[in-house]
Amino acid sequence: MKAALYTAYGPPSTIAFRDEPIPTPARGELLVRVRAAPVTAGDARMRSGKVPRGLGLMMRLALGLARPRIAPGFAFAGEVAALGPDATGFAEGQKVFGLKGFRGGAHRDYLTIPANGTVLPLPESLDFRTGAAFFFGGLTAAEFLIDRVRLQPGERLFVAGATGAVGSAAVQIGRHLGAHVTATASPANHPLARQLGAEAVSDYRDPPPPGPFDVILDVMGQLGWPGARPLLAPGGRLVLVTADLSQMLGAALRPKRDGRRILTGTNRDDLPAMRRLLDLHRAGGYTPALGPVLPFASLVQAHELAESFHKPGNIVVEMDAP
Ligand SMILES: NC(=O)c1ccc[n+]([C@@H]2O[C@H](COP(=O)([O-])OP(=O)(O)OC[C@H]3O[C@@H](n4cnc5c(N)ncnc54)[C@H](OP(=O)(O)O)[C@@H]3O)[C@@H](O)[C@H]2O)c1
Repeated sequence: MKAALYTAYGPPSTIAFRDEPIPTPARGELLVRVRAAPVTAGDARMRSGKVPRGLGLMMRLALGLARPRIAPGFAFAGEVAALGPDATGFAEGQKVFGLKGFRGGAHRDYLTIPANGTVLPLPESLDFRTGAAFFFGGLTAAEFLIDRVRLQPGERLFVAGATGAVGSAAVQIGRHLGAHVTATASPANHPLARQLGAEAVSDYRDPPPPGPFDVILDVMGQLGWPGARPLLAPGGRLVLVTADLSQMLGAALRPKRDGRRILTGTNRDDLPAMRRLLDLHRAGGYTPALGPVLPFASLVQAHELAESFHKPGNIVVEMDAP
């Protein structure tokens, strides 16, 4: 089988492929034949080592000093190819989707994962592509909007950067929660932003929409506190989905400013969070936006698109191992 690996921190060309034996599932594990996997902003950052200012050393301490000592691929959709001893809850041939998490290992033809880990049956309403695209942006948007800012029906939500993986999920979930959604995106993506549920859409290169907003989700950190402050209603909340170290420290030390709040951080990617997102999907509140779909052999090209930070929705690569 074919597996991708990172050879160094650097451009997409540092990704290599190698042939490996198909792994044997250990006790309690599933062997999954991967059919599709997303190539996310997170994958691009871990490969390139390019993270918001001040976070580089922390990232390298966690992932590897000289090169990423993790495997490519955060999430997957596929079929159970075999069950290890005592693995329960799944059947051979069953369609599944799940997360390998930040240590990776989904960009390969076959992977193993604990049957009681971050893997779920793929619902009929999703195919392998949308199953692969399901978790990355969805988990982030759901956690920030539902758990962190507790978005309420009727509130005014501004999603700045609304059509990538996180933004496209946030617009849908915000709308589903009963918020009025205003969005920014580049003009080519305005139809997508409206289709996802945004009521008003403008270009993020123009002056921002006037507000006031109860919640601002600043996906790329373009606005920051100085840009968002004049747009926030009293009691408003600003989420910096992309934040550098000084913004994170600033938000931790002084989260409340002028009666408004700043939130940063990362989201959980555990089974309860995955199940909650699936419930949102079943309730009609979220379906991942699918962008370019490429063959697994074009993983390098997929990384080039992912690190542009201008992709519509989610990029997915498809595996075609026999
Ligand atoms: N905190 C966390 O836990 C967490 C979790 C996931 C992701 N992230 C971070 O969140 C960011 C977005 O991730 P993603 O997967 O959604 O990326 P993505 O799919 O590449 O989407 C990026 C979005 O930002 C827009 N954009 C690009 N430049 C912009 C600018 N200068 N101002 C406003 N919008 C701009 C793009 O719009 P156009 O395509 O229309 O240009 C696109 O909609 C990344 O920095 C990622 O590392 C953080």
